[in-house]
Amino acid sequence: MASKLWEKSVQVNHDVETYTVGRDREMDLYLAKYDVLGSLAHIKMLESIGLLTADELSALTAELRKIHSEIEAGKFVIEEGIEDVHSQVELMLTRRLGDIGKKIHSGRSRNDQVLVDLRLFIRSEIEDIVHHITLLFKTLNEQSMRYRNVLMPGYTHLQVAMPSSFGLWFGAYAEALVDDLTVLKAAYEVTDRNPLGSAAGYGSSFPLNRTMTTRLLGFHSLDYNVVYAQMGRGKTERIVANAIANVAATISKLAFDACMFNSQNFGFIKLADEFTTGSSIMPHKKNPDVFELTRAKCNKLQALPFEISLITGNLPSGYFRDLQLVKESFLPAFDELKHIIDMVNAMMAQVKVNEHILDDSRYDLMFSVEEVNRLTREGMPFRDAYKKVGLDIEAGKFSPVKAVDHTHEGSIGNPCNEEIARLYRSVLESFDFETYHKAFSSLLNE
Ligand code: ARG
Repeated sequence: MASKLWEKSVQVNHDVETYTVGRDREMDLYLAKYDVLGSLAHIKMLESIGLLTADELSALTAELRKIHSEIEAGKFVIEEGIEDVHSQVELMLTRRLGDIGKKIHSGRSRNDQVLVDLRLFIRSEIEDIVHHITLLFKTLNEQSMRYRNVLMPGYTHLQVAMPSSFGLWFGAYAEALVDDLTVLKAAYEVTDRNPLGSAAGYGSSFPLNRTMTTRLLGFHSLDYNVVYAQMGRGKTERIVANAIANVAATISKLAFDACMFNSQNFGFIKLADEFTTGSSIMPHKKNPDVFELTRAKCNKLQALPFEISLITGNLPSGYFRDLQLVKESFLPAFDELKHIIDMVNAMMAQVKVNEHILDDSRYDLMFSVEEVNRLTREGMPFRDAYKKVGLDIEAGKFSPVKAVDHTHEGSIGNPCNEEIARLYRSVLESFDFETYHKAFSSLLNE
């Protein structure tokens, strides 16, 4: 028996099959439950335009729901010799329902099937990521409030520059996540459009009701033009990968700061012992390996949009098998990012800060601008005050008052954590996950 949907009289060469299937049987498991949801919507629509009877629809619906629960229970496999998830589901339906199973593919192609699977997968993964980012945001925002008054040196060129605070340090990374979330929202909007019905990339002579499948799958709108719908393959992944890369860049910078500030030469923060790792030769070592791996993993994630660009960049319009390879690095990226965020969240929640950094005189000069500003407030022109303090420093006569009085928005004395939290909430509330949850629940239960 032919094991491929498309095999007719000639059997394909075994090596060619191995080469072209590649890692699809493993990758498509990420998409399996979305493939079934896409089919549930597709058959409902086929029935509405007379391509399936009501009885056929209910038999197929019941069987697809059964397959969906098998997937949820971890019991679904793509069998040896079966090309991909789309073939496996159709095969299961045909085994269980005979000819009715063979009717499901009218008016679609695996090209729009995988397109819609990816969109549904990405939507729900973005929802997860948003949840994880929100937990990290809360931790950083709280730590900023807790350590609002603990001063630390700020650096430019890695040279001691001006007073900063742990309130500002933690709060900066919290605010970075507001922007990262904003970009993620844009990526979500691009994803939340229905490509189903574009078939092989040129539509179908069946009078498909694409508005209906759009509603059934809880999409906000559709990719109207069928050629553009197919052009979305690779493009959507690249846009989403860029959004992931922003989060990764934020966390990578945080990880570097944390490694550096944890070093004895800084001694600004201390990681709990159980969050550090030892050395096989040096008995005293407590290494920040978690942050080091975080940095490298985040840097890898930042390579993802480039990898996708290179795989897809020289393709004209229309489907190509090249697109299949995008799945291999794209699909696992979400679990990787979630894992990273969870570890960083745990680390940042327990990190201890040094409240006595400024007792060390090596940081005295960071108060030079405070002194210039004090003289300026007393009436001396800024340039004269600057010069006087500079000459005092050179003559060894500068002794700082280690207090700061910064009041403007976003400064040491006024870090605006509530405002930043409000900004975060407004982006968070702009996501609509409810519509697709309701749609999925109808497809699976009603
Ligand atoms: N595994 C394929 C992919 O991910 C599914 C689509 C196959 N379509 C085709 N025309 N060969 O792209």
